Parts: sequence; structure tokens; C-alpha cells
Amino acid sequence: MTRKSTLDGQVTTNWDASFAERTQSMMSSIIREILKLALQPDIISFAGGMPASELFLIREFEEACRYVLTHDGVRALQYGTTEGYPPLRQYLVEKMEEYDVPAEPENILLVNGSQQALDLVGRIFIDPGDFILTESPTYLGAIQSFRAHQTRFVTVPLDEDGIQTDKLEEVLERQPVKLIYVLPNFHNPAGVTMTLERRLKLVELAAKYGVFIVEDDPYGELRFEGQDITPLVVLHKENVLYLSTFSKTLSPGIRLGWIVAPRKIIAKLVQLKQGSDLHTSTFLQMVANDICQRGILRRHVKTIREVYRERRDAMLAAMEKHFPPSITWVRPEGGLFLWVQLPEHVDASEFLNVALQEKVAFVPGRAFYPDEGGKNAMRLTFATATPEKIEEGIKRLGRALEEAMSNE
Ligand SMILES: Cc1ncc(COP(=O)(O)O)c(C=O)c1O
Repeated sequence: MTRKSTLDGQVTTNWDASFAERTQSMMSSIIREILKLALQPDIISFAGGMPASELFLIREFEEACRYVLTHDGVRALQYGTTEGYPPLRQYLVEKMEEYDVPAEPENILLVNGSQQALDLVGRIFIDPGDFILTESPTYLGAIQSFRAHQTRFVTVPLDEDGIQTDKLEEVLERQPVKLIYVLPNFHNPAGVTMTLERRLKLVELAAKYGVFIVEDDPYGELRFEGQDITPLVVLHKENVLYLSTFSKTLSPGIRLGWIVAPRKIIAKLVQLKQGSDLHTSTFLQMVANDICQRGILRRHVKTIREVYRERRDAMLAAMEKHFPPSITWVRPEGGLFLWVQLPEHVDASEFLNVALQEKVAFVPGRAFYPDEGGKNAMRLTFATATPEKIEEGIKRLGRALEEAMSNE
């Protein structure tokens, strides 16, 4: 018998029977599937959650790599500590101080992006079957990550002021939860920011019910207007794990993020991370540290804020001009995303096919709900296209919407 010599070929093993039970509840990322389509050259994509790649600091990275290798090459290429490169931890202490977060180096753990933080946090808190409370909608990658721990979800809806805290207590009363996962600043996908009043209520209820909060904040630095609002970790120090990342400001490819938490929690996370990957790349931590210490990141954040503000404004103006009047959205004060509500009868997943024929892509809202919801919503990213492309893409989307709505 001839057998094709490929690892994926005619294998008789029943793989499904061998896979662990937790893999049954995992789903492939809809976003990844859409991104494949969106990569076609003639598509204008508002789908990805990526920063604008034309703004990457390639020359500065080149210089920082050379500097690190020349001045401290042995350390850069050797194993490092799990907690993170000490000067970068110190830098993050100072960065967190700007937001009044009273962290010390021992309160900070460097990780391979916030996504790893979500995985580690899930692993230290969640036993199979435990409940996590999330906003609805919420970050798709968190749903995926928590699902892998066989989590069950309860949700509380968002409005333009963030999680609806008046509905929260009733849910907590009904269903004990292990964690509350929220995105207070420039929410992904909803674009909204939680008000101080809601933040205060949220930490009050979390304390009353003895629940940890995971405060996921990848976009906080990308504020285009208005005032920063006090982070949850400042309002309620012992019960909040704060996560942030260099992905949206410096580069997602370097996979660098951090967790701020009480020492006891950091110690648990360190043990887990050790067993998982020993530590985050020393070399890349040193390169990022060099870029930060020279003030390059600080200047760069100012630049990208300006570029993204211009793109947000271009998208808002184009939507006013080209979308039918029954379509609504909330104006985000920062971040990367605009969340758009379609009329009840329009299914955004079906509408995506119409939009793709017009050569424009977005992410259907359904992807961001751990339970039912989001059928008639879509997430648009304004960060990656130029204002001209945004105008053209929104015009096409408006045309597709007219068509989809006239077919109902
Ligand atoms: C809310 C949120 N959390 C976490 C992440 C993961 O970011 P990182 O690249 O740091 O893993 C993202 C990325 O899009 C995000 O939007």
C-alpha cells in the first residue's frame, strides 16, 4: 500500500478522542477567517484590530537592537528572570505612577502580550465550570482564552457609559462569579469609555461580593480628547489585576505586555509562566526598554494619537454622509474602534457577504458575545486606512447597506 508521506495525510488515529476535553469548547477565531479575506489587495478592510503599520518605528528598532547587542549583548542573548528585565519593570513603575497607580517593581510581571496575561489569569483563577462575568459585547480574544479553561460566562450589557452597573448587582446576587473582566477605556469592540461613577460602583460591588476584577487596558494611552479617568486599579488596589501592552503603541510583533497586581498574585502568575515559557524575550524587553528610556515611545504616542484622531474623524464624517439614517453609533474618544448598530432585521454576518462584494470588510458583532447578541452590529477599525480610503470604504459600505436594507 502506498502512503502519502505527509504529517497530515491518511492517518487512522481518532484524534478527537485523544484531545483534552477543554478543546471541545474552543472555537476558531472568526476574525482570523475574515482577515484572510481582507488581505486580498483590492479590499478596503476595517476588520483587523491592528495598529497602522506605516507608523512602525523600524529605524529606531534597528538602532535599539544594535545598541543593546553592542552594549549588553551577553545579557540580551542569555536566559533571563521570569518576572521581567529589571530596568523595564522600573520604567513601567514610573509609567504607572503617571496614572497614580502605586506599583513597585514586585507588582509588575512582563508577559508575551496581554493575551498571555489573559491566559495566565484564567489559569490561576478558573476551575472548569467556573463563571466569569464579562461585558456584552467583550473582547473576542478574551472569550477564546477563557473558553480554553472551560469557563462559563455571565454577561452584563454595555451602553455609552460602559458596563451597566445598575444591572450588575442582580447578576452577582444570582450567580457567584470568579472574575469580572472589563475594558474601561475605548472598549474593543464598543469604543465606549466607562464613566468614573460606573467605575466607583463596579469596584464597590466587586468588593461587596469578594470578586477580583481584570482591568484590560490596551488602548488607554490612545486618548484623542477629554480627560483620563481614574483606573480601577487605583480605586480598588487589592482586588484588581491591571493588564496593558506595548502592542497598540509600539508594536504587536514584539509581543510585550505587563500585568500589575498585588505581590501574592504576581508570585502565582510567575510560577505558572515559568512552567509555560520560562520568561518573555530578554532581548526584546531590552530593545523596548531602550526605546522607552530615550523618550521615543512617548513622542511616538503623540504622533499616533494625531493620526488616529484624524482617521476617526474621517470615518465619522463619512458615516454621516453615506450611511442610511437608521444606522447609529457612539463617537469614541480614543482607541481604534467604532461600533455600529444596524436595524434589527439586518444580520451583520449575512451583510458581510454583501459588503465583500463591494470589496470592503468589517467584523460582525456576533463574534464579540460569549452568549447570544450582536446579530445586527458591526465593528469598524478606523486606524489602518488613510482618510481617503476610509471615505471610499464607507461609501461602499453605505451602498451595500442600502442594498441589504432594501432586500428585507
Ligand atoms: C482588549 C484587548 N485585550 C488584549 C489584547 C491582546 O493584546 P496583545 O497584543 O498585547 O496580546 C487585545 C488585542 O487586540 C485587545 O483588544
